[in-house]
Formats: sequence, structure tokens, C-alpha cells
Amino acid sequence: MIRAAILTLSDRGSEGLREDESGKLIAQLLGRIEADVSHAEILPDDGPLIVSALRKLADSGTIDLIVTTGGTGVSPRDVTPEATREVIDRELPGMAEAMRAESMKQTPHAMLSRAVAGVRGRTLIINLPGSPRAVRENLSVVLPALTHAIRKIQGDKADCGSK
Ligand code: MTE
Repeated sequence: MIRAAILTLSDRGSEGLREDESGKLIAQLLGRIEADVSHAEILPDDGPLIVSALRKLADSGTIDLIVTTGGTGVSPRDVTPEATREVIDRELPGMAEAMRAESMKQTPHAMLSRAVAGVRGRTLIINLPGSPRAVRENLSVVLPALTHAIRKIQGDKADCGSK
């Protein structure tokens, strides 16, 4: 069972001015791999707050996967990728590359997402863009690789098969 946390990063959401549809959708989609979402939080687009939340969750020893949504674009307040880079030990460029490549088939605006994925300790952190549509289209790309990725991050020594 994957122990997951969701961080929704949105100034408007954190002020209660926008419903957190994207966070709910992530929880629903993670249900397909039987992940248990034990934590979900909405934070403003504030770098130090995001860094501190990511560190706290990853270092708790109780979370295998953190999925963030929002703040990956090019607006002045979009700081999620910078905050994520500050906390990860290793980047997993393939995940972000795959999400952008698939997303480009849906919309040219996909190139505006600066989302990153990486590992802090034993926790995988994945950024997704903010809209529910973008969440669905991006998360569905990496979902099939998540269970294997987390096993490997946590030290599974078994040989990788062809799947
Ligand atoms: N990717 C997919 N698959 N579908 C989308 O609708 N929206 C794009 C992009 N990635 C989108 C997408 C848009 S419009 C923006 S501005 C960037 O993600 C960044 O979004 P964010 O700032 O909400 O994180």
C-alpha cells in the first residue's frame, strides 16, 4: 500500500476562494493503484511554506509519495518547481519529460509547465499542473510506473522485469 500525501498550491484555494477539485481528483486517481491518501493540504504559492511542508512530509517516515498540484507555470507567483528542487536529493527527469511529452499531444500550453519529479530520502515527489484537466492528463502518464518507482526508491533489490 502506497502512503500518499497531496499538496494543492494555490493562493486562491488557500483563501477558500476556489474549490480544490484538483486535490480531490488526485486522490480519486491514486485510488486506482490503491494508494492511501493520509494527508491533503492547500497552501498558498509561497516558496518557504511549500519547502517546509515538503520536508516535513518526506521526513516523517510515513509518506511514500507526495503529489503536488499547481504553481508549475510561468506566472510570477508560480514557485512549486523551485521549492521542490530545494528539497529533493535526486531528480527523476524522465517522469516530468514523459508528462510533458504526452501532454503536448493534448495542448501546446503543456510546454508552459515546469513541473519536476524527484526523490527526497525514501519519498517520491511529483509536481502536477493546477487544473483538473491537467491533473488527469499528467497523472495518468506516470500512474503505471509509481508502484515500481516507489519500490525501487525504498531499496527493492529484485531485478527489474520487462514490465
Ligand atoms: N498539461 C496538460 N496535460 N493539460 C493541460 O491542460 N495546462 C497547461 C500546462 N500543462 C495543461 C498542461 C497550462 S495552461 C499551464 S499554464 C501549465 O501547465 C502550468 O500550470 P500551473 O501553473 O497551474 O501549474
